[in-house]
Amino acid sequence: MYWILVTGATGYIGSHTCILLLKSGYNIVILDNFSNSSPKVIDNIIKVSNLNSKEISRRIKVFEIDICNHNSLDNMFSSMIKSRKKINAVIHFAGLKSVADSVEQPYKYWETNVLGGINLIQTMESYNCKTFVFSSSATVYGPTSKIPIKESDLIKPCSPYGSTKASFENFLADISGCTETLKCSIPSNKEWRIARLRYFNPVGAHSSGNLGELPKGKPNNLFPLIAEVCSGEREILEIFGNDWPTKDGTGVRDYIHVMDLAEAHLLTLSKLFISDPQILTLNLGTGIGTSVLELIKTFELETGRKVPYKISERRRGDLSISIADPINALKYLNWKAKFGIKEMCRDGWRWKQSQAQNNI
Ligand code: NAD
Ligand code: UD1
Repeated sequence: MYWILVTGATGYIGSHTCILLLKSGYNIVILDNFSNSSPKVIDNIIKVSNLNSKEISRRIKVFEIDICNHNSLDNMFSSMIKSRKKINAVIHFAGLKSVADSVEQPYKYWETNVLGGINLIQTMESYNCKTFVFSSSATVYGPTSKIPIKESDLIKPCSPYGSTKASFENFLADISGCTETLKCSIPSNKEWRIARLRYFNPVGAHSSGNLGELPKGKPNNLFPLIAEVCSGEREILEIFGNDWPTKDGTGVRDYIHVMDLAEAHLLTLSKLFISDPQILTLNLGTGIGTSVLELIKTFELETGRKVPYKISERRRGDLSISIADPINALKYLNWKAKFGIKEMCRDGWRWKQSQAQNNI
């Protein structure tokens, strides 16, 4: 069976994708430097996947590696080859993702998100592994009045984080020999099979309550902050502005359940494996917009608890509305999000409660 290298595998989206990879019969190489995750997540992946000890040693390899270290990457590929295990594809989640931090530390973001990615691609090329799935972001589009957002819309990131994602997307187009066009699928004359997946707002958790988002430090995003207020860890939620030109004045986003996102990665891999060399660029979202107030209301209904809030100033750099046009993911992957915000809140809350119970 195929070996899939998952970089950033113990992070939020990576860990959920590992569950589906194992369930679909793939063997996985877990790569992480644990800068924003914990090795304990590996135990949770194993627990949720229900593997016995024989299967664990046969189907999972773990490497603690920093993608900025070219030699470590090379050693990892070479040690896999030596044990007669060829890596067939890479799903590249490893990276830094905070907009605010990226403004403070642009060097660190460019080093990890761009240089680290280039190291990985160079190493893959030298081991003739040319199937690659990249975690890009809706943040590459920047402010736009065109809703829903299509893949062919203007790329205009407005933070160092967004710039690193857009630049690495361009690098991928260059190495696959594709001149950047507005199409979702462009043939590659360099034998690369690449997908650039632009996630909208991933939230929620695995329905078992054993896997979810576990960021180090204070969260910046709305969903984990609501969960903290709901659990009493945080007193009050600040809503950043109620004077946006939206249905109720609060910001509108396209929230997507992390398991729907994970499933899209599985379908992307299958698609790339059976297709001619190409570069595929897809939005991953539900196509449905939810306001801050709507998300709070749903959280309250699903948990039976109150989420106290106050209205504050708009956050610098915020957008009023961001909603995906997900039609091309349906066309190219036959993928459509299954879960709505009720399930996102229900599963996210179950995870939050199990964290509290198990002292995670
Ligand atoms: P995460 O921080 O939970 O996971 C990223 C993982 O990469 C972490 O486990 C971290 O330890 C690891 N990592 C970071 N730097 C590394 C390095 N130099 N070498 C090896 N490992 C390293 O983030 P996530 O939410 O799972 O996001 C995964 C990817 O998806 C990221 O590239 C992110 O930019 C992108 N993305 C995330 C979102 C989101 O809202 N979560 C939205 C759009 C795109
Ligand atoms: C943020 C990032 C974006 C990144 C995405 C996923 C910014 C400007 N944008 O996007 O680049 O891809 O996270 O990691 O940081 N909100 C509140 N109170 C809060 C937090 C958020 O009202 O305490 C509101 C925001 O104003 C927004 C909505 O909730 O309207 C969603 O915010 P958030 O979860 O941070 O996601 P994005 O703004 O989409």
